[in-house]
Amino acid sequence: MQISTVNQQFAMDVAAGLSASPKSLPAKYFYDKRGDYLFQQIMELEEYYPTRCEYEIFDTYKHRFLELFQHSDRPFQLLEFGAGDGYKTKVLLDAFTAQKANFQYIPIDISNNVLQILAADFKKRYPDLNIAPFNGDYFKALEQLSENTAYRKVVVFMGSNIGNFTRIEAVQFLRQIYQRLAKDDLLLIGIDLKKYPQRILDAYNDKKGITRDFNYNLLLRINKELGGNFKLENFLHSPTYNPQTGDAKSYLVATKDHEVYIEALEQTFHFEAWEAVYTEISKKYSISGVENLAKKSGFEVVNHFFDQKKYFVDSIWRKA
Ligand code: AVJ
Repeated sequence: MQISTVNQQFAMDVAAGLSASPKSLPAKYFYDKRGDYLFQQIMELEEYYPTRCEYEIFDTYKHRFLELFQHSDRPFQLLEFGAGDGYKTKVLLDAFTAQKANFQYIPIDISNNVLQILAADFKKRYPDLNIAPFNGDYFKALEQLSENTAYRKVVVFMGSNIGNFTRIEAVQFLRQIYQRLAKDDLLLIGIDLKKYPQRILDAYNDKKGITRDFNYNLLLRINKELGGNFKLENFLHSPTYNPQTGDAKSYLVATKDHEVYIEALEQTFHFEAWEAVYTEISKKYSISGVENLAKKSGFEVVNHFFDQKKYFVDSIWRKA
């Protein structure tokens, strides 16, 4: 291991997570190049319903969204958190540009690579679109953009990414957004809802094993980037769902008593048989839970938009 090439934050987080009891690894490290690719594959899976549900909502209500965004004396600014490949965003932008709506689009992403690809794609698809990509973290973007009050801000946080936070973390995160917005600004947030428990379990345990590989990717990253010697066959991908709390949690469970050495940390970690490493939460909410989130973070709910099955909600909140 070349010490200089090691991502120090990653090394520290892995050391902390695997030394703790119970063990855990942060879900944000799923997303290297291979993880991004696997997540793309997940979104196309039969069992993974959230992407299709949100697509249906956008397609059904895109004109209604535009009316709500335009209900103001100023043009609006669409700020998309974690823009990704823009698959669902295109549904909105197709409709908004066709209506010649007066707005600016600001995709925000920490990956400059992802952002540049998206910007190039969108400039080609929408020659007249006013697009101003922002490379950096969400709060930095809101901070830098907050001076410009010529636009009404509409923050878009889709894909149930809020589910990767616990309830307490989610409220903290949403409060920070609230504080950086001005009166009458909007938030469009996509949230996965409670439903048949088995439907949720299947979404995180697909037959092709892509979600398992996505979970295993954490171990492969440690092997590759930190010189670990994890053997995948010593771990099971194990998703759970608690219908009361709405917590869908994934674990990697050791199938036998063994040790793993990580070169960059110069440390050996012991795994007892059936010991679990907690890797991800994908929290599901009830509608009253969604309304409670809005209220606790300061927002006023304008409207909820559902897919036909009511599996998912895109909710529009306003800073009163
Ligand atoms: C991108 C966080 C919304 O939690 O459903 C998919 C990630 N993990 N399958 C989710 C994920 C396993 C996804 N989010």
